[in-house]
Amino acid sequence: MDIASLRSEYLRASLDETGVSTEPFAQFRRWFDEALRAELPVANAMTLATSDGTGRPSARIVLLKGIDERGLVFFTNYRSRKGRELAANPQAALLFYWAELERELRVEGRIEAVSAAESDEYFASRPLASRHAAIASPQSEAVANRAELEARFDEAAARGGDSPQRPAHWGGYRLLPQSFEFWQGRPSRLHDRLLYTLGDSGWQLSRLAP
Ligand SMILES: Cc1cc2nc3c(=O)[nH]c(=O)nc-3n(C[C@H](O)[C@H](O)[C@H](O)COP(=O)(O)O)c2cc1C
Repeated sequence: MDIASLRSEYLRASLDETGVSTEPFAQFRRWFDEALRAELPVANAMTLATSDGTGRPSARIVLLKGIDERGLVFFTNYRSRKGRELAANPQAALLFYWAELERELRVEGRIEAVSAAESDEYFASRPLASRHAAIASPQSEAVANRAELEARFDEAAARGGDSPQRPAHWGGYRLLPQSFEFWQGRPSRLHDRLLYTLGDSGWQLSRLAP
């Protein structure tokens, strides 16, 4: 297989300044709704990029679990690698790639933990086994083998029963956006890129070269 020859043309849609909302959260919702309506496999999967105190980056996928006027919410283990990195450097980036729609959406900003009440509410909504797993898994730490993980799960299930308590180290983060970039693939690699940045007088819209 010749990897270098893999390429596709982007023909589906275009994006221009007059056709987008002046407010990026509204534009985000529009694109997210379109991704849902297109029945993409995991439309709410997004890459989260963080970096440690020395600037060394890392990235992984998390699921978007909410959006409000403040920002985008996901849930995880606060003691995980991402949690440790966010404690050292709360700046982060989120990235959606909706291949079927020929769209990329980048969101950058500062991260803060959601309230304990918000985390409790979401934790309680998860399937029981997922709650036991969240309690059992020391996310990002080395474990001896699969059997150790399963033993931890069994123990958490036995201890937690039908209404396990959310561990304090498991909960949500909210990214408070400073910028949103909407990328729509176009023919001949002349893609459309519209960037919203938050300034003193609110959101500014500009176009970036592809
Ligand atoms: C589709 C998909 C969804 C995921 N959703 C989450 C999530 O919402 N929260 C989470 O902590 N990890 C999620 N993961 C696992 C992470 O990608 C990652 O393995 C884990 O969070 C540990 O990352 P870290 O060691 O960098 O902290 C998901 C993975 C995939 C492939």
